[in-house]
Amino acid sequence: IPVDPFDYVVFGGNGDLAARKLLPALYHRDRDGQIPDGARIIGASRTLFSHDEYRAFASEALKAHVKPEDLHAGTVAHFLERLFYCHVDARSQEGWAGLKALLDESGDMRIRAFYMAVSPNLFGEFAAKVSEYGLTHDNTRVVVEKPVGRDLASAKALNAMIATYFHEDQVFRIDHYLGKETVQNLMALRFANALYEPVWNAQHIDHVQITVAEQVGLEGRAGYYDTAGALRDMVQNHIVQLMCLVALEPPSVFKDDALRDEKLKILRSLRPLNASNVETMTVRGQYKSGASGGHAVKSYLEDLGEPESNTETFVAIKAEINNWRWAGVPFYLRTGKRLSDRMSEIVITFRKPPHNIFADITGEVQQNQLVLRLQPDEGMKQYLMIKDPGPGGMRLRQIPLDMTFAQSFKVRNPDAYERLLMDVIRGNQTLFMRRDEVEAAWDWIDPILKGWEEKGQKPQGYTSGTWGPSASIALIERDGRTWHEPD
Ligand code: BG6
Repeated sequence: IPVDPFDYVVFGGNGDLAARKLLPALYHRDRDGQIPDGARIIGASRTLFSHDEYRAFASEALKAHVKPEDLHAGTVAHFLERLFYCHVDARSQEGWAGLKALLDESGDMRIRAFYMAVSPNLFGEFAAKVSEYGLTHDNTRVVVEKPVGRDLASAKALNAMIATYFHEDQVFRIDHYLGKETVQNLMALRFANALYEPVWNAQHIDHVQITVAEQVGLEGRAGYYDTAGALRDMVQNHIVQLMCLVALEPPSVFKDDALRDEKLKILRSLRPLNASNVETMTVRGQYKSGASGGHAVKSYLEDLGEPESNTETFVAIKAEINNWRWAGVPFYLRTGKRLSDRMSEIVITFRKPPHNIFADITGEVQQNQLVLRLQPDEGMKQYLMIKDPGPGGMRLRQIPLDMTFAQSFKVRNPDAYERLLMDVIRGNQTLFMRRDEVEAAWDWIDPILKGWEEKGQKPQGYTSGTWGPSASIALIERDGRTWHEPD
């Protein structure tokens, strides 16, 4: 869908997020002809850059973070012409009149987005300056990066601060997992086919697994990560969002509040986890030294440079949704750093057929599984039992119906930010988190954090390059199930 010309102001325009994700995403959109003539991307931060110096910075960022085969001198030059820069300081008056003058060049009606690619403790100051200098109008949106708070109270305070400057329909809280192709495909699979929805419930589904496994460690983010940990960094947002999309009731339309209302209902139906049950329902881990991604890696404490830390780099949770559709169906969630593989997937395991007519011939039949792979090799596989080909009798085996997107469509898989950055311009909030959603997610997370503290539940060590602490395996195996082994 074509969009009207816009001004995208990126606060923190020369920061890590801008270099790794935002500029490459906008470059790809431009290369695909999706950015209209006259649209401007305005980097803004404290650094004293000229427009050309910022273009040089962006050019380096593209070289570092875009595949060489996607970089062509012509398309890069075309993109760089769209870039501008403005020096502003959130904590003083410096530069703001200049930003106003730059934005005024486009007139009043042009879509204007402010992307907060800065530390959350600066959101307030940036928002206040935007308001003080009259930079907002009816066509303004603001994009807020995570973390939105570090617990319910701070999330509420941040949301309240944002609400003093912007209406909720101007606020785009990013969870980049919602922009991933497979996540959107989950919606297509469930609601654009008649096949799955009738069996998408406790009667037919045995359990659900959601794994977000990473090989990376701290990646230079020790300061933030050690105050957050895996539960806040990955579960409160990305994993909880995935769980909501697996579990929600069909919205009447795939649109803004219709979808977000349904997600909210799931969040409010989650079985509370607190001091009374965290020890049996959750596992915390912290990586020790080992080998990951083919090389030796240090322990979390060594990466951190501290003798001690109680921050978890791994968490596994047995979650339950207390509603009619999901009663008795566990959702096993796990995420961690320095694990064996970089692999994220959602696995739906169906119940066994009620009676096995092949029992004498072939033994047990395996449960059907639907595997939605978020990364790498995005795609979906439906595992089915079939007869082994040939005359050798009724031998059964499980094979996957493979819908790997790259193979099926021969197209480049866009990065999540590409879709989301343009949705902001379109004013489409469907894939963004609403204020009450974020708060409901914290409402579930806070008692887990408190429960850990009350029970003194410390992270268990796990060797880098494994699948986390053995307690995570026990968490699922004691229910007679196993974590899905990636192919
Ligand atoms: C971020 C987390 O939100 O997501 C990081 O803060 C994590 O710790 C990252 O590495 C994972 O994103 P992706 O898209 O690489 O799976």
